[in-house]
Amino acid sequence: MKLIPLILMGCGGVGLQLIHHIVSCRSLHANKGVRLRVVGLCDSKSLLVASDVYSMELDDSILLEVCRVKSNGSSLVTLASSVVAGEHQAYSGPEVMRKVIEIASLLGKSKGLTIADCSASSETIGVLNQVVDLGCCIVLANKRPLSSSLEDFDKIYGDPRRIRHESTVGAGLPVISSLNRILSSGDPVNRIIGSLSGTLGYVMSEVEDGKLFSEVVRTAKTLGYTEPDPRDDLSGMDVARKALILARLLGLRINLDSIKIESFYPEDMGPSVMPVNDFMKNGLPLLDKDIEDKIKRASSNGNALRYVCMIEDSRCEVGIRELPKESALGRLRGSDNVLEIYSRCYNQQPLVVQGAGAGNDTTAAGVLADILDMQDLFP
Ligand SMILES: NC(=O)c1ccc[n+]([C@@H]2O[C@H](COP(=O)([O-])OP(=O)(O)OC[C@H]3O[C@@H](n4cnc5c(N)ncnc54)[C@H](OP(=O)(O)O)[C@@H]3O)[C@@H](O)[C@H]2O)c1
Ligand SMILES: *[C@@H]1O[C@H](CO)[C@@H](O)[C@H](O)[C@H]1NC(C)=O
Repeated sequence: MKLIPLILMGCGGVGLQLIHHIVSCRSLHANKGVRLRVVGLCDSKSLLVASDVYSMELDDSILLEVCRVKSNGSSLVTLASSVVAGEHQAYSGPEVMRKVIEIASLLGKSKGLTIADCSASSETIGVLNQVVDLGCCIVLANKRPLSSSLEDFDKIYGDPRRIRHESTVGAGLPVISSLNRILSSGDPVNRIIGSLSGTLGYVMSEVEDGKLFSEVVRTAKTLGYTEPDPRDDLSGMDVARKALILARLLGLRINLDSIKIESFYPEDMGPSVMPVNDFMKNGLPLLDKDIEDKIKRASSNGNALRYVCMIEDSRCEVGIRELPKESALGRLRGSDNVLEIYSRCYNQQPLVVQGAGAGNDTTAAGVLADILDMQDLFP
């Protein structure tokens, strides 16, 4: 049996679902001759680790206890004080990073320790930068490490065989792997265009059906489709981070601030100027007319209106665009993500990747598949 040691950073929606997947896939993995050994887990405050990372692991009963505690909204610390002494230890503050690096130096090169980042934080970048040098494999759902500075990107991507990050773009959809396969075959990609926000995809298709933009956004918020402050979706920043990751894979040496980002709301309705309730009640309706006009214009041109990322030549943009109704993007309904890739091989008709681009379940499944994808690197 091949043993794959793992440290998981982030026990939120995605991290907990990953734990569930790991536990429920035990016999499936055994049939494939592998076993995942979770040796450490951390949230924003603390790290829980097996006392002896060579011979011990956090067993399934502890993993499920972690799920219970974290879904109640408690911190991992509460668990640390109640667990059986001697089998695992807890660390907090600056000790967390020190301990992760210590484990990485023990199990990185020798055992192929995988560090999975399912946090939504930039704070993990420091650790990731260090563990690459220790021979660890890295799996990311977190977009921050690859969408911050170019220096961090280069460092973390230093050995492409040891990093997977499928879930950073389009959740579990095979966006990154499709793109990497095209690129590694020498087929030049000259254009990527995609709708990479489930929330904005939903909003645009509802508006296309004649509903008022403000009403659609309010409903989306009530249904839990948006971030708590819908401006986090409407700003386009999340889409821009995904676009940046794709652009960098194509070799563009750019940063977030060189991407032209179109926001749905003007600066004077921004979070630092207007409280969220005020925006929902009074700000949003002021945006209806403009969207309605754009929809009408698109429709009279035989087009659909979509919020997309576009990468072409050395340009990378994020914003509202008219697209042919009969294209994959034009036909898009609801919250699916769609990505069209144009290359020499896919020139008239693009390669299209489409499906659910969000959700704890699919995102965690993407992370798990990534972890297993690198196992063959180690004997
Ligand atoms: N959910 C989706 O549909 C989806 C889809 C694609 C990609 N993603 C990405 O997947 C990641 C996780 O999403 P999520 O929905 O699970 O987020 P979440 O529910 O907010 O969970 C984030 C987790 O990260 C932990 N955390 C924060 N700072 C940390 C640090 N410095 N070190 C270690 N852990 C830290 C948090 O700790 P506390 O519990 O202590 O707060 C929390 O457990 C995000 O980067 C997101 O963009 C999510
Ligand atoms: C994802 O997980 C979080 C935390 O467990 C939960 O609040 C949220 O409702 C889940 N999202 C979905 C779409 O199931």
